[in-house]
Amino acid sequence: MLTPRSCLNAISLPWWISPGEFAISSNNGSLHFPDKFLWGVSTSAYQVEGYPAEAKERLSDWSRWVVNNGKIQDGTGADRACEFYQRYPEDLQLCDALNVNCFRLSLNWPVLRPARTEPFSLDPEAIAYYRKLLESIKARGMKTFVTLFHFCLPAWLAEVGGWNNPLTIREFQSYAEQVARELGDLVDYWLTLNEPLVYVYRGYVDGDWPPGYKKNYLLGFKTIRRLLEGHAAAYQAIHAVVPDAQVSYVIHWRPFVARNRFNPLDQVVRYFRDQVFNHIFPKAVETGDLQFPSPLSSEPPIKEISGPVEGLKGTIDFLAINYFTREICEYKHGWPPDLFGIQSDLRRLPSTGLGWEIYPEGLYYLLTEDIAPYRFDAGGRARQIFITENGMADDFSADLNEGDWSLEDNTRVDYLISHLVALNKAISEGVNVAGYLHWSLIDNFEWSDGLRPRFGLVRVAYPSQQRELRKSAKVFAEIAARNRIEARHCAVSKS
Ligand code: BGC
Repeated sequence: MLTPRSCLNAISLPWWISPGEFAISSNNGSLHFPDKFLWGVSTSAYQVEGYPAEAKERLSDWSRWVVNNGKIQDGTGADRACEFYQRYPEDLQLCDALNVNCFRLSLNWPVLRPARTEPFSLDPEAIAYYRKLLESIKARGMKTFVTLFHFCLPAWLAEVGGWNNPLTIREFQSYAEQVARELGDLVDYWLTLNEPLVYVYRGYVDGDWPPGYKKNYLLGFKTIRRLLEGHAAAYQAIHAVVPDAQVSYVIHWRPFVARNRFNPLDQVVRYFRDQVFNHIFPKAVETGDLQFPSPLSSEPPIKEISGPVEGLKGTIDFLAINYFTREICEYKHGWPPDLFGIQSDLRRLPSTGLGWEIYPEGLYYLLTEDIAPYRFDAGGRARQIFITENGMADDFSADLNEGDWSLEDNTRVDYLISHLVALNKAISEGVNVAGYLHWSLIDNFEWSDGLRPRFGLVRVAYPSQQRELRKSAKVFAEIAARNRIEARHCAVSKS
């Protein structure tokens, strides 16, 4: 008889990371999901839209960044991306084929607010576009998840300091209030910010995303505070317009592992990365108070940015979690010592086209253990949890001349099934997961990695913009339609 563990074995985990048997009693080998479970796909504006005004007028920090030579690894950009702006009716038909009942998109803040105007207003054409798009999604009976900030700032705000200028927070609040008024009737779940810590790391530590600072930890930490302020302001603004709105932000959760678990320095690095990357934001939202881990917390410049954030406490109506991989980290010798160490080059597990280890157990452990402090609201009620992104990239060039672009994406099928099994196990142990949204519906622009990494259930041939369902799309469609994983799904990739 099939057990979920045998699904996980499809990716042959080595014994030293194996968490032991996943022994769920299953009904004839199939694994059921709760009634009314949401099955969906996720996208973000800049990665798919190719919004004509944005490319023409370079309205965002990102559309400017891509034209700076050398910033995008494969030299591509997102001026066309997937042309979702024009092709969304076709892409929503793909959603029908996938049997999904929810859809996540982000609003293009730079297009909605291309310049400062008094009194505050948003671009009426862009509002009309998003109304039509959201109406088309709702007309198909799908629930909507709408993100307000998915990594792209209006260029004019980026120019005056972005999140570190208090004007950006006021602007974010007005934008949230206005879209709640204009589109509130069409939104089921609001997400103020996507992955604030990924944004801070890539933009202020790695420096390969705008604003492009390298290892500027202090400015990065200040930005965390500004993002908390922005989230709180937007949460309150949406609730003021739509009192019973469901509002949250998206956490990217990444388990950190010490390269050598017997090396105390690797363990210190692991501790800091986990505390800052995973816990700092949800802890602050829970308590209303931003606190950095010790001994950082006693540094005077850190003390200055720590402390209560107005209106922040408890501003989370559900949990939205993105999960992709784990990260092995290690201490790097040198002066001055770098508490945050580096991401190790070591890979112990089979990895994706982006070199990300495939670690489905991480999803189970994060749900059952890591997020325990955030699972319940102040009244002790279990918050609903949505996996708002999970997926993997394979790799082939935008012009289709390099790489294996076959539709037989067996590794993605294994990835999908093994993560759903892990999710199902967490649900069977009482974790209140109410939905799973795969990243992504279609191949799209993967930020500084360009168009090469392919995350889609649906393949996009960029030169012709032709879409085709991969094998994983068909497997996902069947799981979504039946609301269960069949025994044979676990064998599908081996056929
Ligand atoms: C982001 C997406 C991104 C995906 C894969 C998430 O961190 O929200 O924008 O494409 O991961 O890297």
